[in-house]
Amino acid sequence: MELIIVEDYDALSKEGYRIVEAVLKAKQDACLGLATGSTPLGLYKEMIAGYKKGLSYKKVTSYNLDEYAGLGEGDSQSYRTFMNENLFSHIDIDISNTHVPDGKNANLESACRSYNDMLAKNVRDIQILGIGVNGHIAFNEPGTDFESVTHVVELSEDTVLQNARFFDSASEVPKRAISMGIANIMEAKAVVLFASGPNKAQAVYDTVKGEISPRCPASVIRTHAHSYLIADKAAAALLQ
Ligand code: PGA
Repeated sequence: MELIIVEDYDALSKEGYRIVEAVLKAKQDACLGLATGSTPLGLYKEMIAGYKKGLSYKKVTSYNLDEYAGLGEGDSQSYRTFMNENLFSHIDIDISNTHVPDGKNANLESACRSYNDMLAKNVRDIQILGIGVNGHIAFNEPGTDFESVTHVVELSEDTVLQNARFFDSASEVPKRAISMGIANIMEAKAVVLFASGPNKAQAVYDTVKGEISPRCPASVIRTHAHSYLIADKAAAALLQ
């Protein structure tokens, strides 16, 4: 794992884009693993700016990490809507080539199986990740097996509270989600984990210096042959 420490959030987004842009320039039909949350928003702004400067996403496909149970297309808090609003509707990607787990499927287990089948056939050239304050990646909370594939998750209380900022109140945050598993994440040819801000400092410390263990799910990326952790100074504060 390559650790890249940058000054601030803006530099983190630009550094991330440098890596993603290289993938897109090398392969017009690249397959991207994408993430929601606040952290990748700067990267998505850079990707949109790249499009405005002539980069095309026409042949690109994408697979998102997760989706809330019960939410999807047309729901303002769904991760599908987040992706449409913050990236897809601003670039020339074919929306039918963008994939988010089907949180609205009445049979969530079957939605997980179909997603796993698609992931197996479409290896991601690069996977974007944020990190949770507890070290989670996607909705893989501490304790999740490194061999896990797409599965239904009961969200931890911590995660519900963290995500309440996107809802009117914590009680509105769905308690379950579909999430890619850690094995799916690790299948990508390259993995970029972003960490920004002081509330991520402990998770970054555990990821870099702690034991490689399901107790800190993000620590798994140290075992990936081509992975990056891009942290701003605030998130890297405990490493100095
Ligand atoms: P954030 O979330 O990017 O909104 O901080 C990251 C995560 O919890 O996975």
